[in-house]
Amino acid sequence: MTWIGTSWKMNKTLAEARAFVDGLVAARSALDGVRAFVIPPHTAIAAVRERLPSDVPLLIGAQNAHWAPAGAYTGEVSMGMIADAGATLVEIGHSERRECFGETDDTVALKVEAAVAAGLTPLLCVGEPAGVRAAGEEIDWVAGQVSRGLSRIAAHDRHRVVVAYEPVWAIGDLGREALPHEIAPVMAMLSARFGPDGEAPFGVAAVLYGGSVNRLNAAALLGVPGTDGLFVGRAAWDVAEFVELVRIGARAGAAGPRDAR
Ligand code: PGA
Repeated sequence: MTWIGTSWKMNKTLAEARAFVDGLVAARSALDGVRAFVIPPHTAIAAVRERLPSDVPLLIGAQNAHWAPAGAYTGEVSMGMIADAGATLVEIGHSERRECFGETDDTVALKVEAAVAAGLTPLLCVGEPAGVRAAGEEIDWVAGQVSRGLSRIAAHDRHRVVVAYEPVWAIGDLGREALPHEIAPVMAMLSARFGPDGEAPFGVAAVLYGGSVNRLNAAALLGVPGTDGLFVGRAAWDVAEFVELVRIGARAGAAGPRDAR
């Protein structure tokens, strides 16, 4: 099944979060063909969980959490706390966290370990900055980020992790849309080395692509071999747009060879 998800980043009030859920419930049947997820800001996780009817197949995530189970870490929340609020997924190592909040591969690895220990699905985000791409070193860069991110969990726990490849140069308002042929070698490497049907006996659950995805480029990006789904920012914050992306994902899943999963 194709994964289609969005992180709202630092957006949406409680009222806006509930309105999004209501819009999704109104289009409920669209969700059947995909593995859909929404990642609200921490303040709205519980509101989304409470608003969502239990039979609507939507995963809820958090955008970050600390690796320690509790303690004197002002401003942080633990994996257990986001799980308690209703998250089953947790985004780890997004490039904005790495760039603006000093996250490193070491803290990412600690968080992946803590997420797995808490029974959450880590959504491990990786991707090269523009300079690394210009130097032609993106394959090694991204492989290194994934290896280090997974370094603290046992191989047999890798199936609990989802990896999202999001080149930094393709993310956000200043980003440039990636073309399928630009991401294909990285997706092929991720799929082969870490993916669910890859060379290693213990693959991750899915490898997603993210960065300036929208309804116009989604089908082509999903067509890149090794791509199990899409992780979307801006283009999915409007619920009608999210539903449209879900429909595109369902069509791609129905057509693709990975449908069996
Ligand atoms: P964008 O964000 O789709 O707005 O580029 C993607 C992301 O940060 O995951």
